[in-house]
Amino acid sequence: MSEQHQQGQRRVTGSYWVETAPGPRRPALTRDLDVDVAVIGAGMAGLSTAYELTRAGLGVAVLEARRVAAGVTGHTTAKLTALHTLIYDRLRRTRDAQAARLYARSQSEAIEHALELVDELGIDCEWETRSAYTYVRDADRADELRAEAEAAREAGLPAKFVTETGLPFPVAGAVRVADQAQFHPRKYLLALTADLVARGGQVYEDTVVRGLTEGEPCRVTTAGGATVRARHVVVATHYPIFDRALLFARLSPRRELVVAGPVDAALDPGGMYITPEEDTRSVRTAPYGEDGRRLLVVTGEHFTPGTGDTRARFDKLAGWAREHFPGVNLDHAWATQDIDPTDTVPMVGPMHAGARNTYVATGFGGWGLSGGMMAGRLLAALVTGRDCPWQELYDPRRMRTAVREAPTFLKNQAEVARHFVGDRLRPAPPVEAVPPGEGAVVRSGADRVAVYRDEEGGVHALSARCTHLGCLVAFNSAERAWECPCHGSRFDIDGSVLQGPATRPLERREL
Ligand code: FES
Repeated sequence: MSEQHQQGQRRVTGSYWVETAPGPRRPALTRDLDVDVAVIGAGMAGLSTAYELTRAGLGVAVLEARRVAAGVTGHTTAKLTALHTLIYDRLRRTRDAQAARLYARSQSEAIEHALELVDELGIDCEWETRSAYTYVRDADRADELRAEAEAAREAGLPAKFVTETGLPFPVAGAVRVADQAQFHPRKYLLALTADLVARGGQVYEDTVVRGLTEGEPCRVTTAGGATVRARHVVVATHYPIFDRALLFARLSPRRELVVAGPVDAALDPGGMYITPEEDTRSVRTAPYGEDGRRLLVVTGEHFTPGTGDTRARFDKLAGWAREHFPGVNLDHAWATQDIDPTDTVPMVGPMHAGARNTYVATGFGGWGLSGGMMAGRLLAALVTGRDCPWQELYDPRRMRTAVREAPTFLKNQAEVARHFVGDRLRPAPPVEAVPPGEGAVVRSGADRVAVYRDEEGGVHALSARCTHLGCLVAFNSAERAWECPCHGSRFDIDGSVLQGPATRPLERREL
């Protein structure tokens, strides 16, 4: 095993944001409740919604399966910008100029609102104003960036096409948008949660939701046997755990790796950067300690969960960071997961065509922090009966774009079918072939069993059928987890759910 593999194994232990802001534990829900609004999921979208509604005077309960702000929100790069790689030129071509304007305004106003809360509540969340850049190094792609700069400017952002950046290598071109922001996402959300609770809101951790019956009131049931009766229910679980509009057919999961560590402040590129090239590279820095160094955060190497060699990808990303930021001490590595909608616009609004009081927020791509803040304000407006200028843009029931989405939709479904059928036909190794510290799907009679062998040689066997819709899981050895390539559910080696849409654990198996 290479040195970097060993480093990767040792380092994939968790997010810097989660480690440096542990926060208090919240109780699990053990009794029935009656509330105005039940919010399922305590990431940026769920907590922002709950916070706005609590301030509007509604009784809110937040139900989180694991810990507050420790899922995807706690594992992001934590940039707050309305510049989302190359979205504006696409929006003006596939929708219209008005859609691009509403997108820019909705994201920008959400970030401004968050800054107002930071000031009002005195939140110490390392908020820093920075320019955001989308760059390319390939000269053949510079025109794409020129078009994006023009489209973003038309949409109302202070965007410019530039060829100079603070990056330590030349670029062929970049879109620069000034006065964007970066922060510590968990410090922000823990402070918001504390204020929410102080205002009478309820927040429960370790509370797995299993059922939702729509009605007046709706009934939300938990794995622990509690029932929450609520006039409104918001499903903000990243990939929706209740999917009555079959949104899963228009969403695809993408896993992305992050490496981070202290670097000499002289190497700080002084902005937030992303490129669509090289399997994505995203760069920012953050305050770090008292010695004048900065924390370098580099993201990239996206892939479908449950596919390929994650350790090799960590090595490649770390190698890129060391090449361009010499001397960086990459002492953190983690991964995050994004959900891409087929038309690139998040889905925030009523849960399905007949929904009267159930809502969903999903499909933020790689932009779930500004998107989650935007979702909080939009959903709060919808729940309280107010109109919002961009409700149609983000409406999950939108059909206007269905024809244009068709090729991506069909590609996604073909990919799911390929995994559902093809993964079952693939030869499976015998259990004896699984080395310590590794996992594999093995054959056991007519069944497929997910086997992990621990470092002491003990074998942990689970059903390999994902409890969402039955695709076969695959082992991610760098993160030591079972992952489903169809819609991105993730499971621990004891079978418990790490990430939905699955809500039930993988069943134990005897070999
Ligand atoms: Fe849908 Fe596994 S996540 S089948």
